Amino acid sequence: MKGLILAGGLATRLRPLTHTGAKQLIPIANKPVIHYVVEDLANAGIKEIGIIVGYDKDRIASIVNSVGDGSNWGVKVTYIEQDAPRGLAHAIGIAEGFMGGEDFVVYLGDNMIKSGIKSFVENFKKDRPICSLLLAKHDQPQKFGVAVFDELGNVVHVEEKPENPKSNYVITGIYIFTSDIFDAIKRIKPGKGGELQITDAIKLLVDDPDKIVTCHKVQGWWDDAGTAEAILNANYMVLMDIVPEIKGNISADSKVLGKVGVGENTIIHENCYVKGPVVIGNNCEVGPNTYIGPYTSIGDNCKIKGGEIESSIIIGNTTVDLENGEKIIHSLIGKHSKIISRKNSVPKGGVFVLGENSELKL
Ligand code: TTP
Repeated sequence: MKGLILAGGLATRLRPLTHTGAKQLIPIANKPVIHYVVEDLANAGIKEIGIIVGYDKDRIASIVNSVGDGSNWGVKVTYIEQDAPRGLAHAIGIAEGFMGGEDFVVYLGDNMIKSGIKSFVENFKKDRPICSLLLAKHDQPQKFGVAVFDELGNVVHVEEKPENPKSNYVITGIYIFTSDIFDAIKRIKPGKGGELQITDAIKLLVDDPDKIVTCHKVQGWWDDAGTAEAILNANYMVLMDIVPEIKGNISADSKVLGKVGVGENTIIHENCYVKGPVVIGNNCEVGPNTYIGPYTSIGDNCKIKGGEIESSIIIGNTTVDLENGEKIIHSLIGKHSKIISRKNSVPKGGVFVLGENSELKL
């Protein structure tokens, strides 16, 4: 069985972070989302992985730089370019040659699940359906592809973003296909927004009386890390389970409590309070007089001085210089940012240089 990671797309919902960078490289607990995806595929015994990348040369280079040839995970990675974001079904369709008739797992490059995909893959190999869908229970199914299944676990109906969902099980971004999916993809027409929808191709398989489509339910949480809120939620879930490791130096006058990871060459100066779960990357300087609260990830090369940060991701190479009592919460901050207090400056007020599609809550 092979793997296919979809890492093209425009990621409009994550602008401005994705004006230049790829969303699949946004770090969750200081590790890019796509690394969790490759890890899950490798842990399920998959050795050959195709990665669909878009047409933007810089984004392709950044993904290739980060994942490389896959040897870090003991897998072989092949990159497949998609000329434009023409939809998930189009992205899967262009991988037909790479799959060479084998069964394959499709894993959207922005999806994360806690439990991995081992049992999903094992069940598929045991039952040998034509296709299997990984489903998650959701309280807003109308925002997703929805699947209805019978008492045997066979899928009997699928629908994309229905107004009146017939089930509260949504189709996650993880599927297992046989090569039959390619014929189905060739038979569908572009849907809303001109994209080829994978749910339409799956529907052709579900509606074929000679074919069996099964499903598998996600154990634990699943996240489609396509929005800032979902990314912060994934960060929260992953940090809960981190294995703490302190490599840097912590002043004897500072307090570190709970699960906290501190990277190499990172210094935590005096009078700081770091309350886990928190990860701080390499070559950072924190403090003096700084509070880093639970569910915060701070990437490499950051300087954080004064104030408080909680439930946030600071991706890296960023300066935060706050005064006592100032606080950043629930924030996702891109690389090379500067957040500096004006508490003692006149006239009072915020001063901003913001990129397009920025979001600021004061
Ligand atoms: P989406 O989140 O559906 O699309 P997107 O990444 O363009 O984001 P947005 O809706 O905010 O504009 O994509 C899910 C995953 O599939 C993501 O990792 C990108 C990838 N993808 C492709 O590889 N090719 C495509 O044509 C599309 C639409 C998505």
